[in-house]
Amino acid sequence: MVSVLFVCLGNICRSPMAEAVLRHQLREEGLVEKVRVDSAGTGNWHAGEPPHRGTRDLLADRGISVDGIRARQIGKQDLENFDYVIVMDNNNYGDVKKLARNETEIHRFVDFIPDTEYKEVPDPYFTGDFEETYRLVEAGCQGIIKTLREREGL
Ligand code: 4NP
Repeated sequence: MVSVLFVCLGNICRSPMAEAVLRHQLREEGLVEKVRVDSAGTGNWHAGEPPHRGTRDLLADRGISVDGIRARQIGKQDLENFDYVIVMDNNNYGDVKKLARNETEIHRFVDFIPDTEYKEVPDPYFTGDFEETYRLVEAGCQGIIKTLREREGL
């Protein structure tokens, strides 16, 4: 089974959104049994909490479940346990690199979004714009499924 871990700072806005959206899209495409999806934060302030209200409300409006998603901090073991570790911004990239062995590949979420000028996924905890983040997350998750089909024979 292929595994994907999304990583952001707090694990309450962007990465749980991506976790829920990717799982939703996989279910729609009949692939949900083939991919393990999880998320984590580089920080631990929100450990144990459900996603931020902004993420919850936006996903609820679209019929996308966040049931069972709780924040947790990333650990070294995650880098061994997941095939694809996908970070939301440059700070996340640097923080995860510090945890990782040199040869571990860390992916940037924006690299899965077709034709985007974004270099990072904006943090709605600070921008307040959950819609903007959702548009990127939706496109990037479709890109991830395309990549998994091509590379992992899904
Ligand atoms: P996230 O957003 O990394 O997308 O979950 C944040 C959530 C909380 C904090 C920062 C970013 N915080 O500082 O508590």
